[in-house]
Amino acid sequence: MSNSKTAVVVLAAGLGTRMKSDLPKVLHPLAGRSMIAHLLDTVSELRPERMVVVVGEDMPAVQAAVAPHPTVVQSPRLGTGHAVMAARPMLEGFDGTVLVVYGDTPLMTTMTLERMLAARRQAPHPAVVVLGFRPTDAGAYGRLIVAADNGLEAIVEAKDATPQQRTIGLCNSGVMAVDGGQLYSLLDRVGNDNAKGEYYLTDIVGLARSDGLPCGYVEGDVSELVGVNSRADLAAAEAILQDRLRAVAMAEGATLIDPRTVYFSWDTVLGRDVTVGPSVLFGPGVQVGDRVEILGFCHIEGATIAQGARIGPFARLRPGASIDPDAHIGNFVEIKNATVEIGAKVNHLSYIGDARIGAGANIGAGTITCNYDGFFKSHTDVGAGAFIGSNTCLVAPVRIGDGAIVGASSAIAKDVPADALAVTRGPYMVREDWARRFRERRGAEKLAAKSGAPGRKTGSGKG
Ligand code: UD1
Ligand code: MG
Repeated sequence: MSNSKTAVVVLAAGLGTRMKSDLPKVLHPLAGRSMIAHLLDTVSELRPERMVVVVGEDMPAVQAAVAPHPTVVQSPRLGTGHAVMAARPMLEGFDGTVLVVYGDTPLMTTMTLERMLAARRQAPHPAVVVLGFRPTDAGAYGRLIVAADNGLEAIVEAKDATPQQRTIGLCNSGVMAVDGGQLYSLLDRVGNDNAKGEYYLTDIVGLARSDGLPCGYVEGDVSELVGVNSRADLAAAEAILQDRLRAVAMAEGATLIDPRTVYFSWDTVLGRDVTVGPSVLFGPGVQVGDRVEILGFCHIEGATIAQGARIGPFARLRPGASIDPDAHIGNFVEIKNATVEIGAKVNHLSYIGDARIGAGANIGAGTITCNYDGFFKSHTDVGAGAFIGSNTCLVAPVRIGDGAIVGASSAIAKDVPADALAVTRGPYMVREDWARRFRERRGAEKLAAKSGAPGRKTGSGKG
């Protein structure tokens, strides 16, 4: 009789050749983090007693990515049954349920896995529960052979199936919940006399049945069970995940004006009554407070936006951007590693990097913090209530005191005291009537050149 303990084996030793990538398949990202990280998060919610990831021998990057979860190396790769064999030392003496999941099937939910575990606990206490699904194209998937009493008789791989078996629409997703007390006695008897010459994990169903052990299946939703084998599959999985994230955002009280054009990261946090305009992308590490308005076409990553702030349209917030309550960040403004304090405004065409913009300060259009000298980054500090005129360069390190005013078009390389005016400009110079005289002289010269007057070698004017 099985107990309620769970162990998880994640199979990730496959090469993923169809991805045509230097990156191991399971490290390709979905919504900003690797497929395997999504999967590990999902299975961790089951609070398994033991967990192990089976990797190939050439995959240190996968081992590093799944740490602190332990890995075992399967070498050579001789099939899914062989891969679970490689995990045997980690499951010594374990008699609960062993859940086997595939690293390239990252979208399944904890709820679906819990249904499988529940099926194992219920009569007739199946030795193996398989997660089945009905893809639109059954193609290369293994087919579930179901008996009249709805018990599972066998799984037949597509390559080994008869034409009649291939008409079966119910397929093996790859996820299995197996009695830990039986798993290895079944696997010991799996051979490789089949179309692929591999040790199939799926053969344990037929073996269990021939031992008189009951097996069963539960059906899962296709959208949870798409396997990622190619870049096209990756894009399809991303689309499914984005739809889920959009639904969650709206369910939690955000308005998405055109949900299909908003892209979230797995960890994006939105407050209540947030409005997000069309074509906004959230990269990893973004937190948005209540009542924030994000207008269209913004690109936001690693940023914190406090309640009541307004961002965009066309704003870019990069890592370390911290926008305090009621601050405004307008169009074509880039903020990096900078705090824009309460009520401050950076409304047009600016770069603010490695800086603090004090509460209520106003940063004029085209202001640039010159934070990098080609070797080091330096800090700019703008005091509360300061006013920076348009087209100003703040050459860091530099401090603008509280309430100071910087005249438009200045290049400020020295600190400005509080409440002072600082301005750097070339002298104002006027020559009365100069422009009119210039036009007359050049106009006459051009006319002479066109009429072919000798001695002049001017061009046609089209040069
Ligand atoms: C497998 C199933 C098939 C199911 C399909 C669902 C078997 C025999 N077949 O077929 O019934 O419909 O998944 O997607 O299990 N792996 C290893 N070591 C190996 C071989 C594979 O770790 O030696 C890993 C892969 O990294 C992958 C998973 O196991 O994560 C599945 O392997 P794959 O070769 O893709 O199996 P399929 O042919 O798709
Ligand atoms: Mg596969």
